Amino acid sequence: MPQKTIGVLTSGGDAPGMNAAVRAVVRSALKHDYKVFGVYRGYNGLIKCEMVDMSIRMVSGIIHRGGTLLRTARCPEFTTEEGMQKAKENCMDIGIECLVVIGGDGSFKGGRDIAERGIPVIGIPGTIDNDIQCTEYTIGFDSAMNTAMEMIDKLRDTTQSHYRCSVIEVMGRHAGHIALHTGIACGASYIIIPEIKYEIGIIVEKIKLAQRLGRKHFIVLVAEGIGNVTEIAALLENATGVESRATILGHVQRGGNPSVRDRVFASQMGYHAVKLIEEGKVNRVVGLQSNRVVDFDIHEALSMKKEFDHELYNIADEIAF
Ligand code: ADP
Ligand code: F6P
Repeated sequence: MPQKTIGVLTSGGDAPGMNAAVRAVVRSALKHDYKVFGVYRGYNGLIKCEMVDMSIRMVSGIIHRGGTLLRTARCPEFTTEEGMQKAKENCMDIGIECLVVIGGDGSFKGGRDIAERGIPVIGIPGTIDNDIQCTEYTIGFDSAMNTAMEMIDKLRDTTQSHYRCSVIEVMGRHAGHIALHTGIACGASYIIIPEIKYEIGIIVEKIKLAQRLGRKHFIVLVAEGIGNVTEIAALLENATGVESRATILGHVQRGGNPSVRDRVFASQMGYHAVKLIEEGKVNRVVGLQSNRVVDFDIHEALSMKKEFDHELYNIADEIAF
């Protein structure tokens, strides 16, 4: 008889490092003699009962790989009472006593809802956006930023050769963390993010001032959701006379091998999730605060507010010319 039976799934947008988290959950759980079911395609797999009994070897050779071997999905059916009841019944039939959900805050809301219906959960933050309230860091953020940075470096070469302005959109749904960090790392002249109100006139003035100081090429970084980058590029070109091009980096930011940081944090968080289950502490979300792995009650985690790093934004603004 296994000590316990748990399930693990990845949900929402995938993120580099999710595999490392799944690996850590499976390996730690098997060490405790648990039975572990890998659930395919997020909450879809719970509803459709697409799950596999995981062995140690099934998570071999995945720590360095992007994507998620369990696949992922968005599952509208899970937001309905009927869908959730179906998922609950399947968990009960299989004997899943706790579900480890690796995903973003949408996935945690789903986790909270199924926990309220009797299936305990542990959440592990996995999203490139770093927009989860209770944690300073989400799995995938570092890798996505490095991917964006590499591509922006390439764009900078051609932007510089042509004395142009590149207006570049990075991912982040409703959050500007990727834009802010890569903007600093790539020396962007201006960073447009949802957390800070922007005026095109101010960006124009900043570009004109930099022109007077001899600058001939410009990078403007824009977080997804702000607006149409082609329109922003056209506005800037008209107002400054600098030929402008728009680029959307898109889903390439979600792929690729995870960075060291993502592999290590994912491993720590996966381990911590199983430790919580072992200690009987469930319905919690794992997070990182001051480089330490911590955990919060799932309701508290979802009601917290993430502080935006205004100081970092001011630094970016101050040193970009
Ligand atoms: P992420 O986890 O990356 O934020 P989503 O917001 O798309 O991604 O959420 C992933 C899945 O979690 C959804 O497809 C849905 O199945 C579930 N989910 C999201 N929001 C809720 C909610 N309010 N209640 C129940 N389930 C939800
Ligand atoms: O949540 C991660 C994220 O990459 C967001 O930055 C983006 O808005 C969203 O996923 C796009 O998701 P998809 O195209 O997979 O629906």
